[in-house]
Amino acid sequence: MSDKVAMEKIVSLCKRRGFVFPSSEIYGGLASCWDYGPMGVELKRNIKDAWWKAMVQERNDVIGIDTSIMMHPGVWKASGHIDNFTDPLVECKSCHLRWRADEIASDKPRTCTKCGGELTEPRMFNLMFKTFMGPVEEEASTIYLRPETAQGMFVNFENATTTSRKRLPLGIAQIGKSFRNEITPGNFIFRTREFEHMELEYFVKPGTDEAWFDYWVKERFNWYLKLGIAKENLRLRQHGKDELAHYAKDCYDIECLFPMGWSELEGIANRSDYDLTQHAKHSGKDLRYYDAESGERYVPYVIEPSAGVDRSLLAFLIDAYHEEMVEEETRVVLRLHPSLAPMKVAVLPLSRNEKLTPLAKEVYRQLCPNFMTCYDDSQSIGRRYRRQDEIGTPFCVTIDFQSLEDNQVTIRERDSLAQIRVPIKELEQTLQAKLKGERFDATALWATRQKSQ
Ligand code: GAP
Repeated sequence: MSDKVAMEKIVSLCKRRGFVFPSSEIYGGLASCWDYGPMGVELKRNIKDAWWKAMVQERNDVIGIDTSIMMHPGVWKASGHIDNFTDPLVECKSCHLRWRADEIASDKPRTCTKCGGELTEPRMFNLMFKTFMGPVEEEASTIYLRPETAQGMFVNFENATTTSRKRLPLGIAQIGKSFRNEITPGNFIFRTREFEHMELEYFVKPGTDEAWFDYWVKERFNWYLKLGIAKENLRLRQHGKDELAHYAKDCYDIECLFPMGWSELEGIANRSDYDLTQHAKHSGKDLRYYDAESGERYVPYVIEPSAGVDRSLLAFLIDAYHEEMVEEETRVVLRLHPSLAPMKVAVLPLSRNEKLTPLAKEVYRQLCPNFMTCYDDSQSIGRRYRRQDEIGTPFCVTIDFQSLEDNQVTIRERDSLAQIRVPIKELEQTLQAKLKGERFDATALWATRQKSQ
């Protein structure tokens, strides 16, 4: 995977096949801002659905929430983001290029890599975007775009626990946009200034936090494995004491082998009772939890698995990208897990022939209420297969002249290239079974991969 595929190939595929476009492209683009095209939006939605299913739907101890991006500025004072959510910034005195000071190797001369100019001393730069609420641009109306969704869960802790009538341990989950004025965004959608978070705040009794922390580290690691990312391209890294965020007692990163090397994919932090204690202090509201079992009142500890949708999407794309020789031609194929694939089925009449079109359209109409299905009748069938391979469609359904006689169609499988013939009346059922089926569990997917390499 990532040791072979260069980022340029992923960026180019994303543009060519409608996954990701540069934002405001007709105006020359806007640095580090990206738009998701027709395939990208489906892939993104599937990643979020997979996360929600695993983290909320399939659990009785997690509830969902959707909180506002703009929050009371007191939230960010209490959470420590106004004082601590900073990166050290250095600037070239001649060309004014900027870097994060901690990204410049300490053994290198501290000069500008572009013009050789002298660098300023590091100064702390707050990463929160500021704006004004209401028509007057004055200090008193300053608000911030949230840099994490987490605070929406903390300030709603009491609302969520009382209305759900659930006991601890209890998680609150949220998916939504976050904003960070990163000094050095880059590597395509890996680090951007606007991105989507998938975060869980899991509230537990103090003293049980370390066991729950271990549990969530494993759980989250396995989520990526189940969705097909190869084990050898994932690893865990514990944060050193000097790199822990201001709220964290402990933290592990799930790292992935991206084209630029091992980098953070998701962070799992033990946030202790830091946030609820701070909010209780600053809001004057008692946020202790009454434990009916033990009769105690305490401020819960919080375990937080925090993932980025965009960064996961990049990891899934990189992992899925394969080039292989088929009939003396290079085939580019995205071996995405079927649950993530933007299109599940493509309906392809053998040609744009007036006799084939009605039946092909009829098959399309049958399938599209049940699967994300596309219909393509332009260019040769070989080219259309390649297009579907490049967007990771697990199944192509081909309608040929024989279909008009026997009411059967051909299903072509993306990974094995196997072709089977099935009666149209059994098509939906067969595809359902195949999409859910054994052969598409992650192990089987890897096995197919190994064979083709
Ligand atoms: N609430 C804790 C928190 O936000 P984080 O380690 O700063 O922790 C968690 O972020 C995840 O969010 C990262 O592992 C990454 O996937 C994603 N993320 C963070 N900053 C990002 C950025 N600038 N661009 C894209 N994704 C980002």
